[in-house]
Amino acid sequence: MLRVVESIEAVREACDEARKAGKRVGLVPTMGALHEGHLQLVEACREEAEFVVVSIFVNPTQFGPSEDFTRYPRTLEADVAGCEKAGADLIFAPSASTMYPRGFSATHVEVAGISDMLEGASRPGHFRGVATVVLKLFTIVQPDVAHFGAKDYQQQLVIRRMVEDLNVRVAVRVVPTVREADGLAMSSRNRYLSPEQRAAATVLSRALFSARDAVHAGLRQGDRVRQILRETIECERLANLDYAEVADADTLEPLGDWEPGRRVVALLAVRVGSTRLIDNLVLAE
Ligand code: PAF
Repeated sequence: MLRVVESIEAVREACDEARKAGKRVGLVPTMGALHEGHLQLVEACREEAEFVVVSIFVNPTQFGPSEDFTRYPRTLEADVAGCEKAGADLIFAPSASTMYPRGFSATHVEVAGISDMLEGASRPGHFRGVATVVLKLFTIVQPDVAHFGAKDYQQQLVIRRMVEDLNVRVAVRVVPTVREADGLAMSSRNRYLSPEQRAAATVLSRALFSARDAVHAGLRQGDRVRQILRETIECERLANLDYAEVADADTLEPLGDWEPGRRVVALLAVRVGSTRLIDNLVLAE
C-alpha cells in the first residue's frame, strides 16, 4: 500500500524498516507532474529494489529568478495514482522549509567543470541546486539504487560525478528518454505548450534524428553536425535556439572531427514560445 509522507523522520523510519526486512531501497527523485517517462523510472527501480521511494519536490534552488518555479505544475493527486500503478511504496513530498530549514544559501554542493557548460551556462546556479538537493535526498533515503532520466543528460553526469567524488554509496542508473509518437521527448514542461507550439516542438527530435542519420551515414565532423542541428531548428518559425552542441558523451567536451569508436552526444536547448525545452541523443557509441 503506497504511503505519502512529508517529514524526513517518516521517510527514514520507513526506509530503516524496509532495510531491516532485508529489502533493497530504491529512489526516484522527481519534481512531480509525472508523465510516462517518470513512471518508467519507477518501474525500472522496482526491478532492482523491493522498496521504492519516489520523491516529489519542486526544488526552488535549481530555478533562476526569472524561471518557472511558481508556475511549475503541481499535480500531487495524479502523481500518487501514477506511482501506485508503477509499483512505488512511498512518496516523499516535503515542503521547502522541511528541505531547507535554514534558508537556501548555506551549505551546498558544487560539481565544478561539468556544471558550468551548456545548461549550467544558460542557467547559472542550476546544477548547484540539483546536486545539493539530490545529495540531501540521498542522505535522507540512503538508497541502494537511484534512477534518473536520460533526457537530463548533463544532470546525470553531474550526479554521477558527485557520487563518485563524495563516495556516496548508491548505484546511479539512467533510463532512456521516453518519446511521444511524433518524437517529442516527454517533459513536465510540455504541458505549457499551446497546440501550435506543441507541433513546433517536434523540431528538437527532428534535428537530433537528422544529426544521427548523418553520423550513421559516416559524418564525423562536429561543426557539420552542429550545422545540421542549427539549420533544422532555424527552419521552425516558433523555435529559438539556445544551444546546439556536439560533445564527448562522457565529458561534454565540444568535438571537432572525431575518430571512430568515440562516444558522441548531441544536446539541444530550444525555446518554443516562452517554454524552454531540452533534448539529446547519443549519435555514436
Ligand atoms: O530531474 C529532476 O526532476 C530534478 O532535477 C531532480 C533530479 C528531481 C532534482 O530536483
